[in-house]
Amino acid sequence: MSSPLRLGVAGLGTVGGALLKLLDRQAAALAARTGREIAVVAVSAQNRGKVRDLDPARFDWASDPVALAASPDIDVFVELIGGADGVARAAVETALQEGKSVVTANKALLAKHGLHLARLAEAKGVALGFEASVAGGIPIVKTLRDSLAGNRVSRVYGILNGTCNYILSRMEAEQLSFGQCLAEAQKLGYAEADPSFDIGGYDTAHKLAILTALAFGTEIAADAIAVEGIEHITLADISAAAELGYRIKLLGVAERTAAGIEQRVHPTMVPRSSAIAQVMGVTNAVTIDADAVQELTLVGPGAGGAATASAVVADIADVARGLKAPPFGLPLKSLAPLHRAPLQTHEGGYYIRLSVYDRSGAAAAIAARMAERAISLESIVQRRRPGELKGASAVPVVLITHATSEKLIGEALKAVLADGFIAEPPQVIRIERE
Ligand code: HSE
Repeated sequence: MSSPLRLGVAGLGTVGGALLKLLDRQAAALAARTGREIAVVAVSAQNRGKVRDLDPARFDWASDPVALAASPDIDVFVELIGGADGVARAAVETALQEGKSVVTANKALLAKHGLHLARLAEAKGVALGFEASVAGGIPIVKTLRDSLAGNRVSRVYGILNGTCNYILSRMEAEQLSFGQCLAEAQKLGYAEADPSFDIGGYDTAHKLAILTALAFGTEIAADAIAVEGIEHITLADISAAAELGYRIKLLGVAERTAAGIEQRVHPTMVPRSSAIAQVMGVTNAVTIDADAVQELTLVGPGAGGAATASAVVADIADVARGLKAPPFGLPLKSLAPLHRAPLQTHEGGYYIRLSVYDRSGAAAAIAARMAERAISLESIVQRRRPGELKGASAVPVVLITHATSEKLIGEALKAVLADGFIAEPPQVIRIERE
């Protein structure tokens, strides 16, 4: 057997703690599978007291993660600190510059500095593994990079944030408000330290940026993602979606279009019968449309200590075996700049919920504004709330359109607003085709 692979692990929170336990539990199997013992030689964490149940005396303790990253006693630096900049970035850069392979779960770091870090790794001939950065335990990075190497991907999309999927699932199942469900998600420990990263769609966007690069062989371009969160989704939308045969999911979608690569994160109506609509709670799912495999969906735990540690271990095992794929599947010089398709050119169906004054001509005017732009309606539903008197207030009107463009929908709604029949800004949710 070769010499042990020596790890330095920085960050002993949920994932770091689970990683140490998993490496202990699977020590013999991993040594047999990789031909090397995998040994954690040193750890670093903000709060030493936190690792009591892991017998910290077993490991060298580094108070400074950057010093740990530079230590001659380690071969691989495992970064589980988090954050796009600061100490996580400094430590990862140091490790790569020192010629050590890096394994990280840090999606924000990858989304912002992935190219720069891949450049450092390539220059030093070391590995940069980030399987755990997207969709927790789902092996989506290796699937796109390695297993689908013979495919041309046309679209990759998925539920990439467990907190949002939990909130939307609970709102539908229990008819609870958005705020109540967010509080539950925080109590259960699903949400990021700052939950606005989850509900605002930014966590999904970080993950999508990584998937886009892997799927399309492009440079990471997180700033070219149109991002909308789920904060404005109401029970009225959840119920209307159910009645019309849809379910609302926060999706990250990257798609090759005639106008370029579309990258978008937003609440999305998906057909209730689709595979992705069945994914409830904190579970994640990613679907890939590609020419050879056609459609592939991976479903599994998108967060949680053990599941994320499983992905970290997969990258560590690759290093132990001496495998070193280019981080984004291609040598850096072969990655194409991402040509961004503007959201205005997006084509698809739309759900539009309007609060309409109950006056004669209102529905006709709305339909006319759509027809003027050749927007075809799949359905139009007006519901008076029980007990309401005619003309007493605005009533909800829900439209579902056939495929049209974002630009035309924007123009039509501007005209509808100008007509003066609308009591509140419209709620617009894009529909994703299967
Ligand atoms: N807050 C994230 C989620 C954790 O809810 O999915 C995993 O990135």
